[in-house]
Amino acid sequence: MALSFTSSSAVHGSSLYSSFEQPKDSFLDAQFGSSQPLGWLNLPSTAVKFSRRRCAVKPLNAEPKRKDSIVPSAATIVAPGWVEKVEVEDYEKLANELENASPLEIMDKALEKFGNDIAIAFSGAEDVALIEYARLTGRPFRVFSLDTGRLNPETYKFFDEVERHYGIRIEYMFPDAVEVQALVRSKGLFSFYEDGHQECCRVRKVRPLRRALKGLRAWITGQRKDQSPGTRSEVPVVQVDPVFEGMDGGVGSLVKWNPVANVKGQDVWKFLRTMNVPVNSLHAKGYISIGCEPCTRPVLPGQHEREGRWWWEDSKAKECGLHKGNIKEETLNGNGTVHANGTSTNADLFVTENVVNLSRPGIENLLKLENRKEPWVVVLYAPWCQFCQAMEGSYVELAEKLAGSGVKVGKFRADGEEKTFAQQELQLGSFPTILFFPKHSSYPIKYPSEKRDVDSLLAFVSALR
Ligand code: ADX
Ligand code: SF4
Repeated sequence: MALSFTSSSAVHGSSLYSSFEQPKDSFLDAQFGSSQPLGWLNLPSTAVKFSRRRCAVKPLNAEPKRKDSIVPSAATIVAPGWVEKVEVEDYEKLANELENASPLEIMDKALEKFGNDIAIAFSGAEDVALIEYARLTGRPFRVFSLDTGRLNPETYKFFDEVERHYGIRIEYMFPDAVEVQALVRSKGLFSFYEDGHQECCRVRKVRPLRRALKGLRAWITGQRKDQSPGTRSEVPVVQVDPVFEGMDGGVGSLVKWNPVANVKGQDVWKFLRTMNVPVNSLHAKGYISIGCEPCTRPVLPGQHEREGRWWWEDSKAKECGLHKGNIKEETLNGNGTVHANGTSTNADLFVTENVVNLSRPGIENLLKLENRKEPWVVVLYAPWCQFCQAMEGSYVELAEKLAGSGVKVGKFRADGEEKTFAQQELQLGSFPTILFFPKHSSYPIKYPSEKRDVDSLLAFVSALR
Protein backbone atom coordinates (compact mmCIF):
# COMPACT_ATOMS: atom_id res chain seq x y z
CA MET A 1 0.00 0.00 0.00
CA ALA A 2 1.28 3.46 -0.78
CA LEU A 3 1.20 6.39 1.58
CA SER A 4 2.13 10.02 1.10
CA PHE A 5 4.44 11.79 3.50
CA THR A 6 6.53 14.89 3.65
CA SER A 7 10.26 14.49 3.83
CA SER A 8 12.69 16.88 5.41
CA SER A 9 16.42 16.70 5.39
CA ALA A 10 16.80 18.91 8.42
CA VAL A 11 16.22 16.42 11.20
CA HIS A 12 19.27 14.20 11.08
CA GLY A 13 21.63 14.56 14.01
CA SER A 14 19.66 17.27 15.70
CA SER A 15 16.31 18.00 17.21
CA LEU A 16 13.80 20.52 16.03
CA TYR A 17 12.07 20.34 19.39
CA SER A 18 12.74 20.01 23.04
CA SER A 19 10.12 19.48 25.72
CA PHE A 20 12.37 20.07 28.66
CA GLU A 21 11.58 23.77 28.86
CA GLN A 22 7.87 23.05 28.91
CA PRO A 23 6.03 23.56 32.23
CA LYS A 24 5.01 20.19 33.72
CA ASP A 25 1.32 21.02 33.86
CA SER A 26 1.00 21.80 30.22
CA PHE A 27 2.97 18.65 29.47
CA LEU A 28 0.47 16.50 31.32
CA ASP A 29 -2.43 18.52 30.05
CA ALA A 30 -1.38 18.06 26.48
CA GLN A 31 -0.98 14.34 26.95
CA PHE A 32 -3.93 13.29 29.00
CA GLY A 33 -6.21 16.24 29.49
CA SER A 34 -8.41 15.73 26.49
CA SER A 35 -9.63 13.07 24.16
CA GLN A 36 -8.18 15.03 21.27
CA PRO A 37 -5.07 13.68 19.60
CA LEU A 38 -1.84 14.82 21.13
CA GLY A 39 -0.35 17.84 19.65
CA TRP A 40 -0.46 18.87 16.07
CA LEU A 41 -3.40 20.54 14.46
CA ASN A 42 -5.33 17.89 12.67
CA LEU A 43 -4.58 19.13 9.18
CA PRO A 44 -5.29 17.22 6.02
CA SER A 45 -2.28 15.43 4.58
CA THR A 46 -1.82 18.06 1.88
CA ALA A 47 -1.09 20.58 4.64
CA VAL A 48 1.54 18.57 6.41
CA LYS A 49 4.51 20.46 5.10
CA PHE A 50 3.14 23.76 6.36
CA SER A 51 2.33 22.45 9.84
CA ARG A 52 5.78 20.98 10.25
CA ARG A 53 7.56 24.15 9.23
CA ARG A 54 5.40 26.36 11.41
CA CYS A 55 5.93 24.28 14.53
CA ALA A 56 9.62 24.06 13.98
CA VAL A 57 10.29 27.78 14.16
CA LYS A 58 8.20 28.44 17.27
CA PRO A 59 9.58 27.99 20.76
CA LEU A 60 7.96 24.94 22.31
CA ASN A 61 6.31 26.56 25.29
CA ALA A 62 4.57 29.09 23.04
CA GLU A 63 2.26 26.31 21.85
CA PRO A 64 1.29 24.35 24.96
CA LYS A 65 -1.36 22.18 23.29
CA ARG A 66 1.06 20.90 20.73
CA LYS A 67 2.39 17.40 20.83
CA ASP A 68 5.17 16.99 23.34
CA SER A 69 8.49 16.03 22.00
CA ILE A 70 10.62 13.75 24.08
CA VAL A 71 14.15 13.66 22.79
CA PRO A 72 17.56 12.93 24.28
CA SER A 73 18.41 15.80 26.56
CA ALA A 74 21.65 16.43 24.71
CA ALA A 75 19.76 17.38 21.55
CA THR A 76 19.88 20.98 20.38
CA ILE A 77 17.48 23.19 18.48
CA VAL A 78 18.51 24.16 14.97
CA ALA A 79 16.86 26.03 12.15
CA PRO A 80 14.85 23.70 9.95
CA GLY A 81 15.43 23.33 6.25
CA TRP A 82 12.64 24.07 3.81
CA VAL A 83 10.36 21.17 3.25
CA GLU A 84 10.24 20.84 -0.46
CA LYS A 85 8.63 17.79 -1.90
CA VAL A 86 5.85 15.40 -1.17
CA GLU A 87 6.74 11.80 -1.89
CA VAL A 88 4.59 8.76 -2.19
CA GLU A 89 6.06 5.70 -0.58
CA ASP A 90 5.19 2.14 -1.41
CA TYR A 91 5.65 0.42 1.94
CA GLU A 92 5.28 -3.10 0.65
CA LYS A 93 8.16 -2.42 -1.70
CA LEU A 94 10.17 -0.77 1.06
CA ALA A 95 9.53 -3.74 3.36
CA ASN A 96 10.91 -6.07 0.68
CA GLU A 97 13.94 -3.87 0.21
CA LEU A 98 14.61 -3.78 3.95
CA GLU A 99 13.86 -7.45 4.60
CA ASN A 100 17.55 -8.25 5.10
CA ALA A 101 18.55 -4.90 6.58
CA SER A 102 19.86 -4.70 10.13
CA PRO A 103 17.60 -3.31 12.88
CA LEU A 104 19.94 -0.33 13.11
CA GLU A 105 19.49 0.47 9.43
CA ILE A 106 15.72 0.08 9.67
CA MET A 107 15.57 2.27 12.76
CA ASP A 108 17.71 4.89 11.04
CA LYS A 109 15.43 4.90 8.00
CA ALA A 110 12.33 5.20 10.20
CA LEU A 111 13.68 8.12 12.23
CA GLU A 112 15.04 9.83 9.14
CA LYS A 113 11.72 9.66 7.35
CA PHE A 114 9.44 10.71 10.20
CA GLY A 115 11.53 12.89 12.51
CA ASN A 116 9.36 14.12 15.37
CA ASP A 117 6.22 12.40 14.07
CA ILE A 118 7.36 8.93 15.02
CA ALA A 119 7.76 7.31 18.45
CA ILE A 120 8.97 4.03 19.88
CA ALA A 121 6.35 1.96 21.71
CA PHE A 122 8.18 0.65 24.74
CA SER A 123 6.63 -2.08 26.89
CA GLY A 124 9.30 -2.19 29.57
CA ALA A 125 10.72 -5.53 28.44
CA GLU A 126 13.51 -6.54 26.07
CA ASP A 127 12.22 -4.05 23.51
CA VAL A 128 14.58 -1.63 25.30
CA ALA A 129 16.75 -2.78 22.37
CA LEU A 130 14.72 -0.38 20.20
CA ILE A 131 15.79 2.54 22.37
CA GLU A 132 19.40 1.43 22.15
CA TYR A 133 19.20 1.19 18.36
CA ALA A 134 17.62 4.64 18.23
CA ARG A 135 20.42 6.03 20.36
CA LEU A 136 22.98 4.46 18.07
CA THR A 137 21.54 6.24 15.03
CA GLY A 138 22.51 9.56 16.65
CA ARG A 139 19.11 10.96 15.75
CA PRO A 140 16.58 12.43 18.20
CA PHE A 141 13.79 10.03 19.09
CA ARG A 142 10.63 9.78 21.17
CA VAL A 143 9.47 6.94 23.39
CA PHE A 144 5.98 6.29 24.72
CA SER A 145 4.60 3.62 26.99
CA LEU A 146 1.10 2.50 27.91
CA ASP A 147 0.86 2.49 31.68
CA THR A 148 -2.10 0.20 32.26
CA GLY A 149 -1.97 0.66 36.01
CA ARG A 150 -1.40 -3.08 36.35
CA LEU A 151 2.31 -3.38 35.57
CA ASN A 152 4.78 -5.06 37.90
CA PRO A 153 6.69 -2.84 40.35
CA GLU A 154 9.87 -4.06 38.65
CA THR A 155 8.65 -2.63 35.34
CA TYR A 156 8.01 0.80 36.85
CA LYS A 157 11.51 0.78 38.34
CA PHE A 158 12.87 -0.21 34.97
CA PHE A 159 11.10 2.69 33.23
CA ASP A 160 12.80 5.04 35.64
CA GLU A 161 16.17 3.40 35.03
CA VAL A 162 15.72 3.69 31.26
CA GLU A 163 14.84 7.38 31.53
CA ARG A 164 18.00 8.02 33.52
CA HIS A 165 20.24 5.85 31.38
CA TYR A 166 19.21 7.51 28.13
CA GLY A 167 18.46 10.99 29.43
CA ILE A 168 14.93 10.83 28.06
CA ARG A 169 11.41 11.24 29.35
CA ILE A 170 9.05 8.42 28.41
CA GLU A 171 5.66 9.73 27.28
CA TYR A 172 3.30 7.66 29.41
CA MET A 173 -0.24 7.12 28.26
CA PHE A 174 -2.85 6.28 30.90
CA PRO A 175 -6.28 4.72 30.51
CA ASP A 176 -9.38 6.83 30.84
CA ALA A 177 -10.29 6.88 34.55
CA VAL A 178 -14.05 6.75 33.94
CA GLU A 179 -13.72 3.71 31.68
CA VAL A 180 -11.54 1.87 34.20
CA GLN A 181 -14.00 2.71 36.98
CA ALA A 182 -16.94 1.41 34.98
CA LEU A 183 -15.16 -1.85 34.19
CA VAL A 184 -13.84 -2.51 37.67
CA ARG A 185 -17.03 -1.50 39.47
CA SER A 186 -19.18 -3.72 37.30
CA LYS A 187 -16.92 -6.72 36.85
CA GLY A 188 -14.24 -6.57 39.51
CA LEU A 189 -10.48 -6.34 39.27
CA PHE A 190 -9.87 -9.70 37.65
CA SER A 191 -12.67 -10.08 35.11
CA PHE A 192 -10.14 -11.13 32.47
CA TYR A 193 -9.73 -14.53 34.12
CA GLU A 194 -13.47 -15.10 33.68
CA ASP A 195 -14.32 -13.78 30.26
CA GLY A 196 -11.04 -13.16 28.50
CA HIS A 197 -8.55 -10.30 28.46
CA GLN A 198 -9.95 -8.38 25.50
CA GLU A 199 -12.26 -6.04 27.41
CA CYS A 200 -9.70 -4.98 30.00
CA CYS A 201 -6.98 -4.64 27.36
CA ARG A 202 -9.30 -2.50 25.28
CA VAL A 203 -9.77 -0.05 28.17
CA ARG A 204 -6.26 -0.11 29.59
CA LYS A 205 -4.15 -0.49 26.47
CA VAL A 206 -5.86 -0.22 23.13
CA ARG A 207 -7.76 3.04 23.61
CA PRO A 208 -4.76 4.84 25.15
CA LEU A 209 -2.68 3.54 22.25
CA ARG A 210 -5.23 4.84 19.77
CA ARG A 211 -5.01 8.27 21.41
CA ALA A 212 -1.22 8.25 21.29
CA LEU A 213 -1.10 7.23 17.66
CA LYS A 214 -3.49 10.03 16.65
CA GLY A 215 -0.64 12.39 17.44
CA LEU A 216 1.86 10.57 15.20
CA ARG A 217 2.46 9.57 11.63
CA ALA A 218 4.43 6.45 12.44
CA TRP A 219 5.33 4.21 15.35
CA ILE A 220 8.03 1.69 16.09
CA THR A 221 7.34 -1.60 17.82
CA GLY A 222 9.43 -4.48 19.12
CA GLN A 223 7.32 -7.19 17.49
CA ARG A 224 9.29 -10.20 16.30
CA LYS A 225 8.26 -13.09 14.11
CA ASP A 226 9.51 -15.66 16.63
CA GLN A 227 7.53 -14.10 19.50
CA SER A 228 4.27 -15.74 18.60
CA PRO A 229 4.20 -18.36 15.86
CA GLY A 230 0.39 -18.23 15.97
CA THR A 231 0.05 -14.53 15.21
CA ARG A 232 3.35 -12.84 14.37
CA SER A 233 5.06 -15.13 11.87
CA GLU A 234 4.42 -12.72 9.01
CA VAL A 235 5.21 -9.38 10.62
CA PRO A 236 6.99 -7.19 8.02
CA VAL A 237 9.75 -4.75 8.98
CA VAL A 238 7.56 -1.87 7.86
CA GLN A 239 3.90 -1.67 6.90
CA VAL A 240 1.02 0.72 6.59
CA ASP A 241 -0.73 0.15 9.91
CA PRO A 242 -3.68 -2.15 9.20
CA VAL A 243 -5.67 -1.09 12.25
CA PHE A 244 -4.85 2.33 13.69
CA GLU A 245 -4.94 5.87 12.33
CA GLY A 246 -2.32 8.58 12.47
CA MET A 247 -2.76 12.32 12.89
CA ASP A 248 -4.11 12.89 9.39
CA GLY A 249 -6.87 10.37 10.01
CA GLY A 250 -8.21 7.58 7.87
CA VAL A 251 -6.94 4.15 7.03
CA GLY A 252 -3.40 4.39 5.74
CA SER A 253 -2.47 7.50 7.72
CA LEU A 254 -0.06 5.64 9.98
CA VAL A 255 3.08 3.64 9.30
CA LYS A 256 4.21 0.86 11.61
CA TRP A 257 7.88 -0.05 11.80
CA ASN A 258 9.03 -3.37 13.28
CA PRO A 259 12.82 -3.14 13.08
CA VAL A 260 13.46 -6.40 14.96
CA ALA A 261 10.78 -8.42 13.13
CA ASN A 262 13.40 -10.79 11.72
CA VAL A 263 15.64 -10.96 14.78
CA LYS A 264 15.54 -14.03 17.00
CA GLY A 265 14.90 -13.50 20.72
CA GLN A 266 18.34 -14.87 21.63
CA ASP A 267 20.01 -12.39 19.27
CA VAL A 268 18.16 -9.50 20.89
CA TRP A 269 19.58 -10.70 24.20
CA LYS A 270 23.11 -10.94 22.76
CA PHE A 271 22.74 -7.36 21.59
CA LEU A 272 21.51 -6.15 24.99
CA ARG A 273 24.39 -7.87 26.76
CA THR A 274 27.01 -6.63 24.32
CA MET A 275 25.82 -3.05 24.56
CA ASN A 276 25.47 -3.25 28.34
CA VAL A 277 21.89 -2.07 28.21
CA PRO A 278 19.85 -2.06 31.46
CA VAL A 279 17.13 -4.73 31.53
CA ASN A 280 13.97 -5.36 33.54
CA SER A 281 14.88 -7.33 36.68
CA LEU A 282 11.89 -9.64 36.04
CA HIS A 283 13.93 -11.36 33.32
CA ALA A 284 16.24 -12.72 36.00
CA LYS A 285 13.18 -14.30 37.65
CA GLY A 286 12.21 -16.36 34.62
CA TYR A 287 10.02 -13.88 32.74
CA ILE A 288 10.61 -13.52 29.01
CA SER A 289 7.64 -11.70 27.48
CA ILE A 290 6.40 -9.09 29.97
CA GLY A 291 3.00 -7.43 30.10
CA CYS A 292 0.69 -6.65 33.02
CA GLU A 293 1.33 -8.31 36.37
CA PRO A 294 -1.89 -10.36 36.63
CA CYS A 295 -1.58 -11.59 33.03
CA THR A 296 2.11 -12.47 32.88
CA ARG A 297 4.04 -15.22 34.56
CA PRO A 298 7.50 -16.73 34.24
CA VAL A 299 7.94 -19.65 31.87
CA LEU A 300 9.73 -22.91 32.48
CA PRO A 301 12.80 -24.02 30.51
CA GLY A 302 11.67 -25.09 27.06
CA GLN A 303 8.34 -23.28 27.21
CA HIS A 304 7.62 -20.69 24.57
CA GLU A 305 7.73 -17.12 25.85
CA ARG A 306 4.13 -16.51 24.86
CA GLU A 307 2.97 -19.23 27.24
CA GLY A 308 3.67 -16.83 30.08
CA ARG A 309 1.05 -14.38 28.75
CA TRP A 310 -2.73 -14.91 29.27
CA TRP A 311 -1.90 -18.56 29.94
CA TRP A 312 -5.55 -19.45 30.52
CA GLU A 313 -6.39 -18.61 26.91
CA ASP A 314 -5.79 -20.15 23.51
CA SER A 315 -2.43 -19.40 21.90
CA LYS A 316 -3.92 -18.42 18.53
CA ALA A 317 -5.82 -15.53 20.07
CA LYS A 318 -3.01 -14.12 22.20
CA GLU A 319 -3.03 -10.58 20.92
CA CYS A 320 -4.31 -7.91 23.25
CA GLY A 321 -5.38 -5.55 20.49
CA LEU A 322 -2.18 -3.51 20.19
CA HIS A 323 -1.31 -5.67 17.19
CA LYS A 324 -4.73 -6.92 16.22
CA GLY A 325 -3.85 -6.75 12.54
CA ASN A 326 -1.75 -9.87 13.12
CA ILE A 327 -4.78 -12.04 13.81
CA LYS A 328 -6.13 -13.58 10.66
CA GLU A 329 -9.79 -13.08 9.80
CA GLU A 330 -10.66 -16.73 10.20
CA THR A 331 -9.19 -16.83 13.70
CA LEU A 332 -10.97 -13.68 14.75
CA ASN A 333 -14.33 -14.58 13.32
CA GLY A 334 -14.35 -18.33 13.46
CA ASN A 335 -17.43 -19.38 11.58
CA GLY A 336 -19.39 -16.38 12.77
CA THR A 337 -19.95 -13.11 11.02
CA VAL A 338 -18.95 -9.84 12.62
CA HIS A 339 -21.29 -7.04 11.66
CA ALA A 340 -20.39 -3.40 11.24
CA ASN A 341 -21.88 -2.57 14.64
CA GLY A 342 -19.57 -5.06 16.35
CA THR A 343 -22.21 -7.67 17.16
CA SER A 344 -21.83 -11.17 15.84
CA THR A 345 -23.90 -14.12 14.87
CA ASN A 346 -22.19 -17.43 15.29
CA ALA A 347 -22.96 -20.79 13.87
CA ASP A 348 -22.62 -23.68 16.28
CA LEU A 349 -19.19 -25.21 16.81
CA PHE A 350 -17.81 -28.76 16.67
CA VAL A 351 -20.58 -29.91 14.34
CA THR A 352 -19.56 -33.44 13.34
CA GLU A 353 -21.00 -36.89 13.86
CA ASN A 354 -18.02 -37.73 16.10
CA VAL A 355 -18.93 -35.12 18.70
CA VAL A 356 -22.06 -35.82 20.76
CA ASN A 357 -24.13 -32.74 21.50
CA LEU A 358 -25.03 -33.14 25.17
CA SER A 359 -28.21 -31.63 26.57
CA ARG A 360 -28.52 -30.62 30.23
CA PRO A 361 -29.96 -34.04 31.27
CA GLY A 362 -27.23 -35.69 29.18
CA ILE A 363 -24.38 -34.04 31.01
CA GLU A 364 -26.17 -34.47 34.36
CA ASN A 365 -26.21 -38.20 33.60
CA LEU A 366 -22.48 -38.10 33.01
CA LEU A 367 -22.03 -36.62 36.44
CA LYS A 368 -23.65 -39.75 37.88
CA LEU A 369 -21.02 -42.44 37.87
CA GLU A 370 -23.45 -45.37 37.69
CA ASN A 371 -24.63 -44.40 34.20
CA ARG A 372 -21.18 -44.05 32.66
CA LYS A 373 -20.21 -46.93 30.40
CA GLU A 374 -17.06 -45.40 28.96
CA PRO A 375 -14.80 -42.41 29.59
CA TRP A 376 -15.80 -39.09 28.04
CA VAL A 377 -14.01 -35.94 27.04
CA VAL A 378 -16.36 -32.95 26.90
CA VAL A 379 -15.83 -29.34 25.94
CA LEU A 380 -17.89 -26.65 27.67
CA TYR A 381 -18.17 -23.92 25.06
CA ALA A 382 -19.96 -20.87 23.71
CA PRO A 383 -20.16 -20.39 19.94
CA TRP A 384 -19.35 -16.67 20.17
CA CYS A 385 -16.16 -17.28 22.14
CA GLN A 386 -13.12 -16.71 19.94
CA PHE A 387 -11.02 -19.17 21.94
CA CYS A 388 -13.62 -21.88 21.34
CA GLN A 389 -13.65 -20.93 17.67
CA ALA A 390 -9.87 -21.12 17.56
CA MET A 391 -9.86 -24.69 18.89
CA GLU A 392 -12.61 -25.97 16.62
CA GLY A 393 -10.26 -27.67 14.15
CA SER A 394 -8.24 -29.46 16.80
CA TYR A 395 -11.28 -30.66 18.75
CA VAL A 396 -12.96 -32.02 15.63
CA GLU A 397 -9.72 -33.78 14.72
CA LEU A 398 -9.47 -35.17 18.24
CA ALA A 399 -12.98 -36.59 17.87
CA GLU A 400 -12.02 -38.20 14.56
CA LYS A 401 -8.94 -39.77 16.10
CA LEU A 402 -10.88 -41.10 19.10
CA ALA A 403 -13.78 -42.46 17.04
CA GLY A 404 -14.11 -46.17 17.81
CA SER A 405 -11.40 -46.02 20.49
CA GLY A 406 -13.75 -46.44 23.42
CA VAL A 407 -13.48 -42.80 24.48
CA LYS A 408 -16.57 -40.71 23.73
CA VAL A 409 -16.24 -37.07 22.72
CA GLY A 410 -18.94 -34.56 23.57
CA LYS A 411 -19.74 -30.87 23.80
CA PHE A 412 -22.01 -28.91 26.10
CA ARG A 413 -23.05 -25.37 25.34
CA ALA A 414 -22.52 -23.71 28.71
CA ASP A 415 -23.32 -20.04 28.20
CA GLY A 416 -26.61 -18.24 28.87
CA GLU A 417 -28.95 -20.13 31.20
CA GLU A 418 -26.52 -23.01 31.62
CA LYS A 419 -23.63 -20.88 32.80
CA THR A 420 -24.39 -20.92 36.52
CA PHE A 421 -24.96 -24.69 36.50
CA ALA A 422 -21.70 -25.18 34.59
CA GLN A 423 -19.83 -22.95 37.02
CA GLN A 424 -21.22 -24.74 40.06
CA GLU A 425 -21.18 -28.34 38.85
CA LEU A 426 -18.69 -28.51 36.01
CA GLN A 427 -15.78 -26.32 37.11
CA LEU A 428 -16.43 -23.81 34.33
CA GLY A 429 -14.03 -20.88 34.68
CA SER A 430 -13.62 -19.39 31.24
CA PHE A 431 -14.51 -20.73 27.81
CA PRO A 432 -13.54 -23.23 26.63
CA THR A 433 -13.28 -25.64 29.56
CA ILE A 434 -12.38 -29.22 28.69
CA LEU A 435 -13.32 -32.04 31.05
CA PHE A 436 -12.39 -35.69 31.17
CA PHE A 437 -14.93 -38.00 32.83
CA PRO A 438 -12.98 -41.17 33.77
CA LYS A 439 -14.83 -44.46 33.61
CA HIS A 440 -14.21 -45.37 37.23
CA SER A 441 -14.33 -42.05 39.02
CA SER A 442 -17.21 -39.73 39.76
CA TYR A 443 -15.11 -36.59 39.54
CA PRO A 444 -14.48 -34.95 36.13
CA ILE A 445 -10.89 -33.83 35.61
CA LYS A 446 -10.33 -30.40 34.13
CA TYR A 447 -7.78 -29.97 31.34
CA PRO A 448 -5.21 -27.67 32.95
CA SER A 449 -3.40 -26.19 29.95
CA GLU A 450 -4.12 -23.47 27.40
CA LYS A 451 -2.50 -25.58 24.67
CA ARG A 452 -5.38 -26.88 22.63
CA ASP A 453 -3.65 -28.43 19.66
CA VAL A 454 -4.69 -31.97 18.88
CA ASP A 455 -1.50 -33.60 20.18
CA SER A 456 -1.78 -31.90 23.57
CA LEU A 457 -5.43 -32.88 23.87
CA LEU A 458 -4.66 -36.48 22.88
CA ALA A 459 -1.85 -36.64 25.43
CA PHE A 460 -4.31 -35.51 28.12
CA VAL A 461 -6.85 -38.17 27.18
CA SER A 462 -4.20 -40.91 26.91
CA ALA A 463 -2.79 -40.03 30.32
CA LEU A 464 -6.17 -40.49 31.98
CA ARG A 465 -8.08 -43.18 30.14
S1 ADX B 1 1.28 -7.45 23.51
O1 ADX B 1 0.38 -6.97 22.48
O2 ADX B 1 1.32 -8.91 23.62
O3 ADX B 1 1.10 -6.81 24.82
P1 ADX B 1 4.11 -7.56 23.39
O4 ADX B 1 4.28 -7.54 24.87
O5 ADX B 1 4.39 -8.83 22.69
O6 ADX B 1 2.68 -7.00 22.98
O7 ADX B 1 5.02 -6.42 22.79
C1 ADX B 1 5.16 -6.21 21.40
C2 ADX B 1 5.42 -4.75 21.18
O8 ADX B 1 4.21 -4.02 21.43
C3 ADX B 1 6.44 -4.15 22.14
O9 ADX B 1 7.75 -4.35 21.70
C4 ADX B 1 6.03 -2.71 22.11
O10 ADX B 1 6.51 -2.08 20.95
C5 ADX B 1 4.51 -2.79 22.03
N1 ADX B 1 3.95 -2.77 23.40
C6 ADX B 1 3.49 -3.80 24.13
N2 ADX B 1 3.08 -3.39 25.34
C7 ADX B 1 3.27 -2.06 25.37
C8 ADX B 1 3.06 -1.04 26.34
N3 ADX B 1 2.56 -1.31 27.52
N4 ADX B 1 3.41 0.22 26.01
C9 ADX B 1 3.94 0.52 24.81
N5 ADX B 1 4.15 -0.40 23.86
C10 ADX B 1 3.83 -1.67 24.13
FE1 SF4 C 1 -5.94 -5.92 31.68
FE2 SF4 C 1 -4.36 -8.09 31.68
FE3 SF4 C 1 -4.81 -6.71 29.41
FE4 SF4 C 1 -3.28 -5.70 31.36
S1 SF4 C 1 -2.86 -7.53 30.07
S2 SF4 C 1 -4.81 -4.61 30.22
S3 SF4 C 1 -4.41 -6.43 33.20
S4 SF4 C 1 -6.30 -7.88 30.62
